Amino acid sequence: MSDEAGEVHETWNSRWTFIMAATGSAVGLGNIWKFPYIAGENGGGAFVLVYLACILTIGIPVMIAEVLMGRWGRSSPVHTMYKLVDDIKAPRIWHGIGWMGVAAGIIILSYYSVIAGWAIHYLIQMISGNIQGIDGQGASDLFAAMLASPATMISFHTVFMLMTMFVVIAGVTKGLGKAVRILMPLLMVMLIVLLLFSIGVGDFPAAVKYLFAVDFSSLSGSAILTALGHAFFTLSLGMGAIMVYGSYMPAHAPIGKTVLTVAGLDTLVALMAGLAIFPIVFANEAIAPGEGPGLLFVSLPIAFGNMPGGFVFGFVFFALITVAAWSSSISLVEPAVAWLVETKKATRLQSGIIFGLLCWLLGLGTVLSFGAWEDIRLLGLNFFEFADFLTANIMLPLGGLLMAVFVGWKMHKEIVRRELDIDSDFIFKLWRWILRVFSPVAILWVTMEGLSHIFGWPWLSVLSWFG
Ligand code: PHE
Repeated sequence: MSDEAGEVHETWNSRWTFIMAATGSAVGLGNIWKFPYIAGENGGGAFVLVYLACILTIGIPVMIAEVLMGRWGRSSPVHTMYKLVDDIKAPRIWHGIGWMGVAAGIIILSYYSVIAGWAIHYLIQMISGNIQGIDGQGASDLFAAMLASPATMISFHTVFMLMTMFVVIAGVTKGLGKAVRILMPLLMVMLIVLLLFSIGVGDFPAAVKYLFAVDFSSLSGSAILTALGHAFFTLSLGMGAIMVYGSYMPAHAPIGKTVLTVAGLDTLVALMAGLAIFPIVFANEAIAPGEGPGLLFVSLPIAFGNMPGGFVFGFVFFALITVAAWSSSISLVEPAVAWLVETKKATRLQSGIIFGLLCWLLGLGTVLSFGAWEDIRLLGLNFFEFADFLTANIMLPLGGLLMAVFVGWKMHKEIVRRELDIDSDFIFKLWRWILRVFSPVAILWVTMEGLSHIFGWPWLSVLSWFG
């Protein structure tokens, strides 16, 4: 990458801002909306354990690699890959990491914005009193009415896209930096309030048992792939969001500790969200843990609508989801926007508008997949399910695998060691070997087993090769 691209770059004013920005990216709908419902669909405990194992043995090592690449390249993921490939004379095919990330970010944001729009819609429902005293039938009807109204979903999808673009266009330190410094602490406070509320009124022991009692017999190949994919999704890994934030990180901040903080906070929020949501689910017989994407929206209003003070807490809850989604969405589109700005072919304002419009248009597919397009399916998945599967379960793990191989095998060991600046030689070696061997093999294997299970392709299953 040429020097001129460096000019458009600012640096986060402190390591703490990086931690908050990366945590803001990591903590989002993935933690609060997706984690509970996929844990519910996949039977709870065993799934949660596999997900935690994936975070620890794959997510964290790959995240360190991704931050390192970003800080070394100091530009958008596309240009960072150009620079790194140039530096070490690797084949140009490695540029694919950057481009695939841009594409994955755009596809994810397209449906992410629609779901965030649901949360805004529910926030307004709370204020308008429509949820007061609602029963199971009423809550299902309310959710169904929203799904049956493309106009409603498109309106709030539009509102959320505008919110995202507003912060993205305002720029890196003025926009993102300032936004996360306000949003992240607010989020934590809201979550603690909610958790206390749930412990008070819900069935807390049942929730703990569900999330932490491990029964491996309920675990399928596809559940393991979902857990792996979710580890990438929830940590914002494998598509350049963390890379682009890493590029704004001060040169001497310790990467390892910083990554551990971010991953720890993300996991904490997911578990807190699960522990806040499932007590309410189990206290209401009308609600099943395996509801699917509607879990939050069908079940929680029943609880909020019928509990003392539920209206206030419901409002807080949906505000919390919106805020968390907002600080993630800006990082989904940042790789694309930063790339276009660096090429000097567009200003931040113009590229924000271009990519915002693109995501908005693509999001219409998700809106329609809950109604008119429900039966249009690819590999048995509707538009939303396909977009989610393709990105979370294929593109992000593949991106992560390529990053692991790139940093583990292609980048010069001494450069990597210097950049990481880890005191302990043992930990450095351990991390490097996990990155070189364990992570790539595990990602490849889990993906093959998952695909074999989901699409009924027995030849892809490594287990079946050995009888
Ligand atoms: N990590 C975000 C969440 O959990 C989603 C995300 C994925 C954001 C990939 C950026 C990149 O909601």
